Amino acid sequence: MSASPLKVKTTALILAAGQGTRMKSNLPKVLHPVCGRPLVGYPVQAAFDAGCHDVVVVVGHGRELVEAYLAKAFGSRVRTALQVEQKGTGDAAKAGLAAIPEGTERVLIYYGDVPLLSGEDVRVVAEKLDDDPIAGLSLAICSIDNPQGYGRVLRDATGHIVEIREQKDLKTDDERAVREINPGIYAASLGFLREALESLQPNNAQKEYYLTDIVSHAASVGKRVLGVPSRADVMEGANDRAQLAGLEEQMQARIVKKWRLAGVTVREGARIESGVTLGKDATIEAYAVLRGATTIGEGAFVDVGSVLTDVVVEEGAHLKPYTIASQSTIGKKAQIGPFSHLRPESVIGEDAHVGNFVETKKTTMDKGSKANHLAYLGDGVIGAGANIGAGTIFCNYDGFQKHTTTIGAGAFIGSDSQLVAPITIGDGAYVATGTTVTKSVPADALAISRVKQENKEGYASKLRGRMKAAKEAAAAKKK
Ligand code: UD1
Ligand code: MG
Repeated sequence: MSASPLKVKTTALILAAGQGTRMKSNLPKVLHPVCGRPLVGYPVQAAFDAGCHDVVVVVGHGRELVEAYLAKAFGSRVRTALQVEQKGTGDAAKAGLAAIPEGTERVLIYYGDVPLLSGEDVRVVAEKLDDDPIAGLSLAICSIDNPQGYGRVLRDATGHIVEIREQKDLKTDDERAVREINPGIYAASLGFLREALESLQPNNAQKEYYLTDIVSHAASVGKRVLGVPSRADVMEGANDRAQLAGLEEQMQARIVKKWRLAGVTVREGARIESGVTLGKDATIEAYAVLRGATTIGEGAFVDVGSVLTDVVVEEGAHLKPYTIASQSTIGKKAQIGPFSHLRPESVIGEDAHVGNFVETKKTTMDKGSKANHLAYLGDGVIGAGANIGAGTIFCNYDGFQKHTTTIGAGAFIGSDSQLVAPITIGDGAYVATGTTVTKSVPADALAISRVKQENKEGYASKLRGRMKAAKEAAAAKKK
């Protein structure tokens, strides 16, 4: 979804400085992947989907890694601000103000570990302020059966929201019984936010600066607080790996449903990461795993157990079971597998065939060329219609450098040949079975390098007799 920009110039402020201790990991919590994309990538994408003009992510723990990911995934569209010490969500928001770009009128604030949140979920909170320009802020609210752990929404006698009270600061049983909670999406004008964050004090059970105290500040200065009913389940965060696994399953179900509704057959058990694109009438069989920026063209077929990472599969290609490929391109109607391994920079042309136990690496196979069985094709350039026989090896490495093997269009490489690179086989040339090719072969020539065969009539039984006698003599000696 890429929504139209919000009417009021809005910056999203995403809080992601926390350590995430319960993940028990060296990796910062917000970089743990859900369906192949780091957690923090989802709320950032949600901001763009909501039509925010800018995004600021507040970083702290693992700052360098988080910044490196954001720069790679979103470029200069995302700014970061540093919260030096984790003194609470209010302090984090305050740190974020330093990076808010010129011209921002409104700020949307939410947390960085909530992958299920959509652009629409945050957009409605921001747009709520359009209805009531003199309101101080708007925030998502929802009622749940078990409010344990959440900040509770407290209202005055007239039903107006006057405070968010954190679990640890609840005083009475009545307060503890409140089931209306704060899921954690807030919007306010930049002016009001600055003033409200300035007023925060760490007068609470955790001695932290609570972002949620901007609610009571609004009430105390006579500004209205607008509640926006929202679904609690989209705010689910990942605090530990069990929750992370739960989010992974929910996200996977969403991804699969999205592609099914877009006309793709996705069998139960296939795994499809967030960054993958599928064309209509494609089929993804059970236990196929599609990772990274993999793209599958219309009508292509990816059979059981294939694992594709950053692979472009063009229209109508057929990947048989257990095709393993990464950073490669598979052309239109090409046939790959079963059990083929395409390593990075393999470019398989239209209608080309790569079969059982063939490994390619940095190799281009032109239109209609074939390598159907048991071969290693590294650093190769293979011409259109060439045929690579079973057991062919491109000897590309001399222990120091890699060298190129070039095979001309329509050339035929007989089975069990070794091509010692650098080497060129001309167009239409023929390499006889079992040849070790060390000199380039001109176009249309035949290369053959094997010992001439001799047949010795009756020699097999003579040989057997000799060996039998030797065995019996050895056994007699033992006794
Ligand atoms: C917060 C809300 C609570 C709400 C709940 C919803 C506050 C005070 N409370 O509580 O009302 O019901 O979320 O899940 O905001 N962070 C920083 N710097 C800090 C502290 C936190 O960047 O100094 C970030 C964390 O990385 C995290 C987010 O803020 O992504 C939320 O912090 P967390 O400590 O989980 O807040 P909760 O106690 O869950
Ligand atoms: Mg939390």
